[in-house]
Amino acid sequence: MIVLVILFSVVAFALASPIAPEARASHELPTPVSAATAMTYLASLTVGVDDNVPAYNRSRFKHWHIVSGTCDTRKTVLKRDGTDVVVDAACKPTSGNWVSPYDDVTTTVASQFDIDHIVPLKEAWVSGARLWTDAKREAFANDLTLPQLVAVSARSNRSKGDKDPALWVPPSASYLCTYIRAWVEIKYKYHLAVDATEKTVLTDYLAACSVEEVDS
Ligand SMILES: *[C@@H]1O[C@H](CO)[C@@H](O)[C@H](O)[C@H]1NC(C)=O
Ligand SMILES: *[C@@H]1O[C@H](CO)[C@@H](O)[C@H](O)[C@H]1NC(C)=O
Repeated sequence: MIVLVILFSVVAFALASPIAPEARASHELPTPVSAATAMTYLASLTVGVDDNVPAYNRSRFKHWHIVSGTCDTRKTVLKRDGTDVVVDAACKPTSGNWVSPYDDVTTTVASQFDIDHIVPLKEAWVSGARLWTDAKREAFANDLTLPQLVAVSARSNRSKGDKDPALWVPPSASYLCTYIRAWVEIKYKYHLAVDATEKTVLTDYLAACSVEEVDS
């Protein structure tokens, strides 16, 4: 089953190339490293087996915290990722436009969007974060400096769940390389492990994304 999903994803990806240039540069997460750099990062990651002992506990990743004034991490990402965003005194968006890069769903109602952790909190836990301090987990869960947080449709966040790229990638082909490069950069910067299947899939995607970079 996993193999089928991988095959399908790789084939779908190949058919969808070449990928349209990103049109959202000023309203999105920090630009991830190139596919070529991500390849070198991926090669250095520890390959391990996901370990859920002690069992994942979402409360061990404190979020959201205050970033500035009344703006917590969630509201800060909503302001960053939307256009014409107006917020009230509590930093709550009262109007604006958002496009979910995962599935191109649009909204003018911020509450319909989730802030997704590109590397999910549970994925981080089983690949190393269970051994961190609570302070480091809080930094991870609220990290605005790496390409880790993105405002997306609630539907796409829920279909993703805790899945890694062997089981789920964004349905929007134009966002696939950004997503994979971000995934690898986060794993690398936080010294998180990858499992063997995940590494194979990431390698295949990055190879295709590198071709794209050379072509463009
Ligand atoms: C999860 O972590 C929180 C915060 O540390 C703690 O209060 C809670 O008891 C934990 N839940 C379980 C089921 O261990
Ligand atoms: C996004 O998905 C994750 C993983 O299923 C879930 O834990 C989280 O609650 C979702 N985010 C929101 C804001 O619903």
